[in-house]
Amino acid sequence: MRETLFSLGNGYLGLRGNFEEGAPVHHNGTFINGFYETWPILYGEEAYGFAKMGQTIVNVTDAKIIKLYVDDEPFYLPAADLQSFERVVDFRGGTLTREVLWKTPAGKLVSIKSTRLVSLEYRHLAAVAYEVTVLNARAPVVISSEMATPLADEDRAGDPRRAHGLRGQVLESQVHYAQEQRLMLSHTTINSRMALACATDHVITTECPYTFKIKCSRNAAKVLYNVDAQPGKPITITKYMAYHKSRTQPPEELCERAEWTLDRALEHGFEVLLASQREYLDDFWQRSDIQVIINPEHARHHNKEIQQWIRFNLFHLCQATARAENAGIPAKGLTGQGYEGHYFWDAEIYIMPFLIYTQPHIARNLLEHRYGMLDKARRRAAELNEQGALFPWRTINGEEASAYYAAGTAQYHINADIVHALKKYTEITGDEDFLNEMLVETARLWRDLGFYSERKKGQFCINGVTGPDEYNTVVNNNTFTNLMARENLWFAAHTIRKLREEKPEHFVELLDKTNLQPDEIEEWQAAADKMYIPYDQQTGIHPQDDSFLEKEVWDFEHTPPDKYPLLLHYHPLVIYRYRVVKQADIVLAMFLLGDKFSLEQKRRNFDFYDPLTTGDSSLSVGIQSILAFEVGHHQKAGEYARYAVLMDLYDVGGNVADGCHIASMGAVWMILVNGFAGMRDYNGRLSFHPQRLEVLQQLRFSLRVRGRVLEVDIREDQVTYILKEGEDLSLYHVGEEIRLTWKDPKAVRQIPNLKA
Ligand code: BGC
Repeated sequence: MRETLFSLGNGYLGLRGNFEEGAPVHHNGTFINGFYETWPILYGEEAYGFAKMGQTIVNVTDAKIIKLYVDDEPFYLPAADLQSFERVVDFRGGTLTREVLWKTPAGKLVSIKSTRLVSLEYRHLAAVAYEVTVLNARAPVVISSEMATPLADEDRAGDPRRAHGLRGQVLESQVHYAQEQRLMLSHTTINSRMALACATDHVITTECPYTFKIKCSRNAAKVLYNVDAQPGKPITITKYMAYHKSRTQPPEELCERAEWTLDRALEHGFEVLLASQREYLDDFWQRSDIQVIINPEHARHHNKEIQQWIRFNLFHLCQATARAENAGIPAKGLTGQGYEGHYFWDAEIYIMPFLIYTQPHIARNLLEHRYGMLDKARRRAAELNEQGALFPWRTINGEEASAYYAAGTAQYHINADIVHALKKYTEITGDEDFLNEMLVETARLWRDLGFYSERKKGQFCINGVTGPDEYNTVVNNNTFTNLMARENLWFAAHTIRKLREEKPEHFVELLDKTNLQPDEIEEWQAAADKMYIPYDQQTGIHPQDDSFLEKEVWDFEHTPPDKYPLLLHYHPLVIYRYRVVKQADIVLAMFLLGDKFSLEQKRRNFDFYDPLTTGDSSLSVGIQSILAFEVGHHQKAGEYARYAVLMDLYDVGGNVADGCHIASMGAVWMILVNGFAGMRDYNGRLSFHPQRLEVLQQLRFSLRVRGRVLEVDIREDQVTYILKEGEDLSLYHVGEEIRLTWKDPKAVRQIPNLKA
C-alpha cells in the first residue's frame, strides 16, 4: 500500500514508492503514460465487433535501484537493525526522502539518506541523491547503482480491476551500452512496436577514496562504487534517470534524446532540480490549494491532519496530470498497473473540473488528446453500424480495449461525458469554437443510436446501453445517458448554428471535415427536444432505466460486509437481476445537470437511490457527498466526504496496492468546491450556495474563470468573494447576483441558516 502512496510522478513518468534497495517489495513499478503492449484478447465464444486487442501499460526498466553493502554485507531493510527510519513525501518540494540509521551486525552505525524526485519541469527526468555515512568506523562500502528491465508477471487473482494479458518478456532489447558512469538500455515492445530508451548517469561526491566499474548487458546494467569509507565522511551518489518513448522513432534516436536529457541534468545538478520542483509546486499550490480549518469541538481529527489529507489528494492530482501532454490520465495515474493504465471517463467527469478551474491549459491538452482519437472513434461507430463517432470505453491508443462489452462498450455515455467536459471547458475558459468536429460526430451517433418510439408516445428513446452504474447493464433508456445525450445534442446544435451565423468561414471548414448535411442540425435539435426521460409519477422519482423498478431489491440485510464489492463475489447475472447500484448514476446526473431537476426531485431521488448504492466503485461516494449536501443531509454528506478523502490513505476500497484512485481524488476537490461551497456552473453561470456547518470554521480556495482569478473564503456564517485578477466577474450567491470589478473586487455575504 505504501508503495502506491509514496509514488512520485509527473503525468509522463511514474515511479512507485519502492525502496532503492529493492526490498521489501509488493509490486515494483515504473510507468510511462501511454507506453503499452498489445495482446490478442481470447474469447471462449467470439461475437461480431468484440474488442480484439488488449492494451496494457508496461512496467518498464527500473532505473532507481541502488544497493548498499557495508563490510560486504547487504543493507537488507526487512532484516536490518534500524535505529531510526523516516520517509516523507514533501508536497511543496516534490520529493520523497528517507532517513535511516542502520546498525550493522558488526556494530557499525550507518546513516543512509535518500532524496528522490520525478521532475515536473523536465518530464523525461527523475533523480535520486543517495548519501551514505558510516558514523563510527572505517568500513569498505560498496554502492551498486543498477538498472533492470523486469519481466511481466500475471497476478490477477480473479480481480478484473487488476492488469492482465502480459506475461514473460514484453520488452525486446535493442541498443545497450555503458560509458564512464553512464548506462543505456533500450527496448521495443514485441507487439505494439513502441520504443523506449532508459539511461542513467551518476555523480559521486566524497572525500573517501573510491574506484568504480561498470557492467552492462541487454536487460541489466550497473555502476559499482567501491569506497573506503572513513568515519563521519559522507559518500553521495547522485543518479539521474532519463526515459524517452516513441511510437514512431527508432530506439537509436531515443537513446540520443536520453543522452541530451542526462547532459542537461548533469550540467544543472541536483540542487537546480530541487529548486525547479519547488517553483513548479509553488505555482501549483497557488492555483489549486484548498485551505480548511475545522472546528476542534466537532472534529474527530486534528485540523492539521485533515488539511494534509486534502493536500495529499491534490498533490496526487498534480502528479497524475502535470505533464501528461499527448496522453490521457490513467484511472490510477502512474501509481500502479491497475486498470492496465487505461483512460476511461474518469478524466472527463472527475478530473477535468479540477483542471478547468485551476490549470486550464492541462484541461485543453487532454481534450486535444481525445480529439486525436476521433478517427478511430469514427471507425468504431461504423463497426457498430452507427453513424458519427463512438469513443472507446477504455483505451490507451484510441481502440476499444474492453473485453466485457456489457460494462464496457455499452457505456455509450462516454461520448456525452467527453462533450460535457468540452462544454464546461469552453464555458469556463471562454476558449470557444474548440473541437467542433467532435460535437458533430457525437451528436450524429446519438441521433443514429436512438429512435422515436411509438410505444413511448413518439419520444426519442435510446435502448441497449449501460449507464455509469455497472450493476445494471444493457438497459433501455438509462436516464443518465438520455439526459447527457440530450445535452450533447442540444449543445452541438446550438454551437454549430452559432458558428454558421457568426463565423461562416469556420463553418465551411467544418462542413468540409464532416460532410455535415443541411438538415442534420435540426434532427439533433428534434431528437433532444423529444428525448424520453424516465419519470415515475407514482413515486415521483426518476427510474434509473426502463426496467429498474421492475426488479427485486437486493437483500442488503443478509449480505455480510465481506461480500463487497459484489462484483468479486457474485456472477454478473445475479447482480443484474436485482435493484442494486454500484455507483452514483442518477445521483451523478443530478450533479452534472442539476438545473434539470427541482430540489424536491433531487431529494426524492437521493433518498430512493442512496440506500440502494453499494459504493463498490470509488467513483461513487464523492458524488453522493455533494448531493447529500445539496438536499440537506449534512451528516451523511460529511461521512461520504470523509470516505472520499481517505479512499487511498486508509485504503477504503482495499485495493490501493494496485494504485491510487485518481477519479476519487478529483472528487475530493469537487466535494470541497461543489459540496461545501455549493458551487455550480450550469451553462457557465457561476453560483455558490455555501453550507453553514458547525464543523467548518474556514474554507478557502481560488478558481480561474475566463482569465479571472476568484478567491472564495468561507468563514463560519459568512463568505467573502474576492476578484484577485481580471477586470470584472459576475457570480450568484444564494440566488443574488454579485458583480465584482477591479474597483470593487470584494463582496461579503451571510450564509443562510441550515435547511431543515
Ligand atoms: C467504475 C468505472 C470507472 C472505472 C475506472 C470502475 O470500477 O465502475 O466507472 O471508470 O472503474 O476507474
